[in-house]
Amino acid sequence: MPTDPYAFTPGYYDLFRAKDGDRALPSVAFFADLTPPGAAALEIGPGTGRITLAVAERAASVVCLERSTTMRAVLVAKLAERPDLWDRVTVLPGSAPSFELGRAFGYVYLAGVLEHVPPADRPVLFAAIAAHLEPGGVCAMDMVMRQPALDMPERVVDEAVLGECRYTLAAAARALGPDLSELRMTYRTYHQGELVGTEVVERRHNMHRPEPVLKDLADAGLHPVEGDGLAQASHDPADPGAVVVRKAAS
Ligand SMILES: C[S@@+](CC[C@H](N)C(=O)[O-])C[C@H]1O[C@@H](n2cnc3c(N)ncnc32)[C@H](O)[C@@H]1O
Repeated sequence: MPTDPYAFTPGYYDLFRAKDGDRALPSVAFFADLTPPGAAALEIGPGTGRITLAVAERAASVVCLERSTTMRAVLVAKLAERPDLWDRVTVLPGSAPSFELGRAFGYVYLAGVLEHVPPADRPVLFAAIAAHLEPGGVCAMDMVMRQPALDMPERVVDEAVLGECRYTLAAAARALGPDLSELRMTYRTYHQGELVGTEVVERRHNMHRPEPVLKDLADAGLHPVEGDGLAQASHDPADPGAVVVRKAAS
């Protein structure tokens, strides 16, 4: 059983994004705004539920498929504080690329998840998504990018202060191929300037390129909602690489 890269990181994950507010990626507003009003939604890899809660406010229901026990626990803890959403959000252990829920949804989305999916698994993942979309249903994802595979010496990429503690996240990456990197993420805690805690996560990071992604989506019967779907696939490292597709109406 591979180690869960999110086993101890959910608190840091939310803290760094909360510090960035509306600019934080994946964008809560982007995925929430795509929710067809009153739709049944399926989220793959909801993590701590940043986007789940916003989608649940617009959707009839949200089913979440999350492979990390820790992320699921944090999402359930957040839901505990939102009794108004209890009858709308279902949190299931589950893992893409292949899943079978025996029902269809009007909206399927995955935010910040593709980096965990090897490109070779895309056809299976997209076929599973298509099988779970109603005719006319929408699917949104991000992380479809043109940037080279990550390769960089360690540098601090995030930082936040809570009380007397300062938390930093330093990332280092080694490219193993054109679309694959080994990532080393080091979380450090400083108390009044002194280093008091160090936690390290190592994992793989996959790159997904626009043209082959759109081809795999088309093979699954999913086509861009607007134009050729490449409009947002820029070389800008800040570009979240969003792709929005639809299943044919009949
Ligand atoms: C970077 S986090 C993004 C969380 C959330 N979607 C957000 O935007 O804040 C990636 C999440 O996807 C989950 N994940 C990664 N691969 C997955 C898979 N194959 N099936 C289900 N969940 C997966 C991870 O456990 C983690 O919770």
